[in-house]
Amino acid sequence: MIARTAMDGGKGMVITIDGPAGTGKSSVALAVAERLKFDFLDTGAMYRAIGLEAVHRNANLEDPRELAFIAKHCKIEFEWSKHPPGVLLNGDQVGHLLRGSEATRAASYVAVVPAIREQLVQQQRAIGKERGNLVTEGRDQGSIVFPDAPCKFYLDATPHERARRRVAQLRARGEIVDFNEILDQIESRDRRDQSRSVGPLAVPQDAEIVDTTNMTQSQVVDHIVDRVRSVKV
Ligand code: DC
Repeated sequence: MIARTAMDGGKGMVITIDGPAGTGKSSVALAVAERLKFDFLDTGAMYRAIGLEAVHRNANLEDPRELAFIAKHCKIEFEWSKHPPGVLLNGDQVGHLLRGSEATRAASYVAVVPAIREQLVQQQRAIGKERGNLVTEGRDQGSIVFPDAPCKFYLDATPHERARRRVAQLRARGEIVDFNEILDQIESRDRRDQSRSVGPLAVPQDAEIVDTTNMTQSQVVDHIVDRVRSVKV
């Protein structure tokens, strides 16, 4: 029996999973949500959707005011009946476009704009209230968005291992990649994520750090599910 908490008026429980790219966060969070029958929120998809819109409008990604203006006119919705939930941007299905290189690159500019972070943080909190039982995944979920969440996890892995996983993923797709180049990209992204002034990547104070370097994905999922089940009301 899953514990319910007093947060959000006793409506439900929010589980936060944060951490750097390449730790398997998204797949783990989705699998945890499936096992617990919770909803799954991919907050990166929201930054990516705004990035996609910016690309479509040929925006100057270096101009935070232009990006903030675009974000204000983006309506991002999730189709909760699907697993993982479908993503709608101004009424259009965009889920299949969000992992492309353009949206990925643009999202990293979008993510440093304070007004956009504020807008998305508010929307994420509203989703937490509305959906109740939620596994949410991102960079700032336990630290900024849901600081009172009863179960917080921070997934980590050495940069070397994250680069190894990324290289394997890209090679499986038929891409030719250089390990050291990928490792460099991961290390510089970590530095940027950790040093930005709003919503930096950080270990939430009361989060459990799960070092996934030597764990399989299903071991990580089992560990998190066991932890959540042990939380008492
Ligand atoms: O997790 P992801 O790769 O889908 O994230 C896409 C981008 O959005 C990435 O640049 C990190 C950023 N992001 C963020 O700053 N805060 C979040 N809660 C989620 C993602």
